[in-house]
Amino acid sequence: MVSAKNPEQLPTQAELAEMSREDLVKLGMKLDGVELVEYPDPWPVKGTRAEKRAERLVALWFAIAALSGLAFIGVFIFWPNEYVAASDPGHFAYSLYTPLVGATLGLSILGVGVGVLVYTKKFIPHEVAVQQRHDGGSSEVDKATIIAELADAGNRSTITRRPMIKATLGAGAGVMGLGLGVFAIGGLVRDPWKHSDSKESLWHTGWQEVGGERVYLRRHTGDPHEVVLVKPGDLDAGGMETVYPFRESERDDDHALAVALKRSDNPVMLIRLRPEDAARVIKHQGQEDFNYGDFFAYSKICSHLGCPTSLYEQRTNRILCPCHQSQFDALQYAKPVFGPATRKLAQLPIALDEETGALYARSDFIEPIGPAFWERKS
Ligand code: FES
Repeated sequence: MVSAKNPEQLPTQAELAEMSREDLVKLGMKLDGVELVEYPDPWPVKGTRAEKRAERLVALWFAIAALSGLAFIGVFIFWPNEYVAASDPGHFAYSLYTPLVGATLGLSILGVGVGVLVYTKKFIPHEVAVQQRHDGGSSEVDKATIIAELADAGNRSTITRRPMIKATLGAGAGVMGLGLGVFAIGGLVRDPWKHSDSKESLWHTGWQEVGGERVYLRRHTGDPHEVVLVKPGDLDAGGMETVYPFRESERDDDHALAVALKRSDNPVMLIRLRPEDAARVIKHQGQEDFNYGDFFAYSKICSHLGCPTSLYEQRTNRILCPCHQSQFDALQYAKPVFGPATRKLAQLPIALDEETGALYARSDFIEPIGPAFWERKS
């Protein structure tokens, strides 16, 4: 702390401006009561083979970081990432997408990290200094001297005369930073208005009715090609089942059948309330006829951050999201009653198909499912 220092020791503003970086380093140490025990130059003999080897090693790691960063950006943007069923050509390439994104980004970060570590170990002087601790903020003198000390350490590490390390460090850190930027923003660059009327848009899900064809509720049996429709008698009172959309036109289309089970906005919780609970239900305005008797269907995608709200507690009629513990009341149109979620779960309007005796969706959800996005109003 300056107040603890002898003002006689302090240089004037003019003297400070005149001082060289080395003078400032010495002054800073003196003022801070630092005793420099050792300050060895890591490479006292310049230009040795060992020094050059160390330099090449650092540059190699930064180059690895740069190349993997470039590979990550390429994979993230160009590698096929649309779901391909196991039986379809292209599945192998699709299955590599996530591992490749992880491996290339991970290697890029690792490259920069290891490069910095090796550089610090090989080129930064490892001084041994002893300093007494003191309290309070730093004075102008302290600030000027510490900056000089840092600059001096950089200078002594000989970074200024190592263009190969500087270039590869710039490339490695730059490309890695670019990759992280692409990663963070890439997923947000999506036009919600594009294909607004199709089930590929943010406004619709796989439950959207296309060409007047009825969309049934389908059970997942574990075999993506097996079609089992859900009938009211299949579920006991107080029971819950996850269901997916099915169209007759897709019965022999293995790819479409598998996609319906995989698509992230498709899973719906079909809940059969106990009769005494169903009698107490409060319905959302405009959605009074969305249920079929005691059967209520809610999107499984949490309105907080999109986790699957997989848990239904029969005794309390609460739907629980395991990610951040949001709870939704199944007796009150799945409105949030606990946790960070602020929106109700979207309700799917369902009815009974007299011909097949199976349940079907009367339409798609009438509001976007899951977390909010900028253009979403409800
Ligand atoms: S995603 Fe469900 S509570 Fe956070």
